[in-house]
Parts: sequence; C-alpha cells; structure tokens
Amino acid sequence: MSMATEEPQKGPRHVAIIMDGNGRWAQAKGRPRLFGHHAGARRVKEIVRACKPLEVKYLTIFAFSTENWKRTQSEVSGLMSLFRQYIRKETRSLKAEGVRVRFIGDRVQLDKSLVKLMNDLEEATAENDLVHLTIAINYGGRDEVARATKRLAKDVAAGKLSADDVDEETLPKYLDTRVLPDPDLVIRTSGEARISNFLLWQSAYAEYEFINTLWPDFSEDEFKKVVGSFGQRKRRFGAVPA
Ligand code: IPE
Ligand code: IPE
Ligand code: MG
Repeated sequence: MSMATEEPQKGPRHVAIIMDGNGRWAQAKGRPRLFGHHAGARRVKEIVRACKPLEVKYLTIFAFSTENWKRTQSEVSGLMSLFRQYIRKETRSLKAEGVRVRFIGDRVQLDKSLVKLMNDLEEATAENDLVHLTIAINYGGRDEVARATKRLAKDVAAGKLSADDVDEETLPKYLDTRVLPDPDLVIRTSGEARISNFLLWQSAYAEYEFINTLWPDFSEDEFKKVVGSFGQRKRRFGAVPA
C-alpha cells in the first residue's frame, strides 16, 4: 500500500514541545529566571496528564539544550538541581499513572547523581505503556546525529554493517530516539519561530505550531486547542493528494 492511500490518524500520535519563555515570564514579574523555570516545571505535569484523553501516545519535551551551557553558572546549576528535584518528586506518580519516561541527549556531561536519577526513573517506569514521555536534557539535534554517526562508523569498522547498506532507515536506528516514532506535531511556545537544534532528523515532516504564550502560562486548554487543530491540517509527505 502506498503512503498516500493510508488512512491517517486524525490527531497527532507524537507531540514534541520546545518549552520556551520561562525567563521572560519571570522577568515580567520582576523575579529571577529560576523562578520561571520552577513555574515551567509545574506545567509539565498538567500537559502530560492531558495526553491520554487526546490520544497523544508520545510526548517529547525539550528541557535543556547542548547550547544552554552558555548560560550563567547559577542558571545552569539551578536547572540541574530542578531536574533532580523534579525526578525525585514525580517518580511515584509517573509510575502510578502509567507514564513511561525516557531521556534523550548526551548523559556523559551530566552530573553522576542526576544520571542515576534519570536511569532509575527509566527503569521504574519501563513496564508502563499508557503515555511515553521523553525528556530531552543536554540534547542537540546535531550532537545526536554526530554521536549516532560515530556509533554507526564503529559498527562499519567492526564489520557489523556494510557501508553500502547505510540508508535513511539505518541512521535513525543509532539516534537517541531509535524506539520512538517521528513527531507529528512540534509546538514551540514564547513566540520564537525557530527550532533551536531540536529533533532535526526526526522532524523532517512534522507540522509546526509557534505559540505566543510563554511556557509557564501554557495551559491544558491551550494544549487541547493546538492538538485539536492538527486534524484540519493536510499532510502531503511530498505527494499530490487524490
Ligand atoms: C526555556 O525558557 C527553558 C530552557 C531553555 C531551559 P528560557 O529559559 O529559554 O526562557 P526565555 O526564552 O529566556 O524567556
Ligand atoms: C530552546 O530554547 C531550548 C529549550 C527549550 C530547552 P532556547 O531559549 O535555549 O533557544 P534560543 O536560544 O532562543 O534559540
Ligand atoms: Mg528561551
């Protein structure tokens, strides 16, 4: 069966979100940037819970990019301790609510105590299947493709793979996202219309929504609206519709 004749799912099965605007949200209130990051983290729970009824099976959220190390040391360490706090606080309810959590990004540069919490949360929720939440920490699309290429090259050198067999089905098997479907819809909050190195390979045919709302104000209702409007889009994947 050709792609053009397949019955498309109405809603997006995989939604990815660039959670942007925490700093500006805090600044507008005369508060430090970290105050905005804490408010942003509280939103995550609400959006994760909204996924099941909307039939969003996969939710992938951008929490920290490979470029975010350029921020002040106090913001970076504040974010890292927020991630630790978030994981400690949410493990029990994520597990109970059927959420399977995965992390993407390069863990090598992360603090050992954070990596342990990440591994433990992945393990604790490994049997869950209701909603698949993927959190991108120290993630960059280019870095991911470079790391994937390195692993692929090692397999070629070891004789496990022939260079002639490398095609567009091969590379994604080496990406951090190897077990996930490609995102159908990518949402970015805060009014910036750029992707900032998020899911470069995977979003080749994603639909994009750039929303003006700052992430800490992004409500379940707004999420529902954006996910709902996806059904009106005509995806063509390069073909001419019948
Ligand atoms: C997004 O909010 C969160 C992270 C990048 C960690 P920002 O911190 O980028 O907020 P703005 O864009 O400065 O408002
Ligand atoms: C993208 O936001 C990264 C995350 C949301 C984690 P940034 O705020 O870092 O992106 P730029 O710098 O505006 O492109
Ligand atoms: Mg930003």
